[in-house]
Amino acid sequence: MRRTLVAANWKMNGNKASNEALLEAFKKGFDGSADTAVFPPALYISQLAESLKGTDIAYGVQNAYFEEKGAYTGELALSMVKEFGCQYVLIGHSERREIFGETDEQIAAKVEATLAADLIPMLCVGETLEEREAGITEKVVKTQIDAVLKKVGIAAFEKIVIAYEPVWAIGTGKTASPEQAQEVHAFIRQLLAAEEADVSQRTRILYGGSVKAASAEALFGQPDIDGGLVGGASLIADEFVAICNAAQ
Ligand code: G3P
Repeated sequence: MRRTLVAANWKMNGNKASNEALLEAFKKGFDGSADTAVFPPALYISQLAESLKGTDIAYGVQNAYFEEKGAYTGELALSMVKEFGCQYVLIGHSERREIFGETDEQIAAKVEATLAADLIPMLCVGETLEEREAGITEKVVKTQIDAVLKKVGIAAFEKIVIAYEPVWAIGTGKTASPEQAQEVHAFIRQLLAAEEADVSQRTRILYGGSVKAASAEALFGQPDIDGGLVGGASLIADEFVAICNAAQ
């Protein structure tokens, strides 16, 4: 049975004071029914390492580079990410793909390097509204996952968390219906099962895209939805605590 995982993607938001208030609320409010993780802007990783010491709330970075070290101005090496106690690396978020032009190949290289650093990749995939309306959602998601499968192989997916984030639902308040989300999650699980059934059953597939406390229970109750990757709602303490405690 896959344990529910709910992660907060704070994106480029927060400050030391607001972070601390959120973290205190999380520590007090989480009831342990789900695994939890927080992705702050990288500058605040030390604050989370200190604040979350002794808790089982994990944390990670929203992006990192795949080279070990060197002349890559502005980038983070995975060894540095590991040194600060991170467990997770968010990879291939649609904002990284869309705004910063990250390709499937670069994303696959980041997954490979993250695994090599003994960190957990959280691989984001998902289609745009145009792609959904053109009926090519499964083709888009398959292409994104195949690039990683080709690079690291199916066995590695035991250590990878997948986050399906339909781009048209991110930050729009338009959540995919539980049925819409379940359909794509089941497709992703079948993609992995075609390679190795056991690994497919053990891989956690999260849903992201306007998850709210009101929609969490119905989403997490779907057979192939193993939790959520939450943006806006994770900046509101009560809302995110309620989402984490909605785990089945
Ligand atoms: O990575 C999670 C994020 O893309 C979802 O954002 O604000 O729609 O929950 P939001």
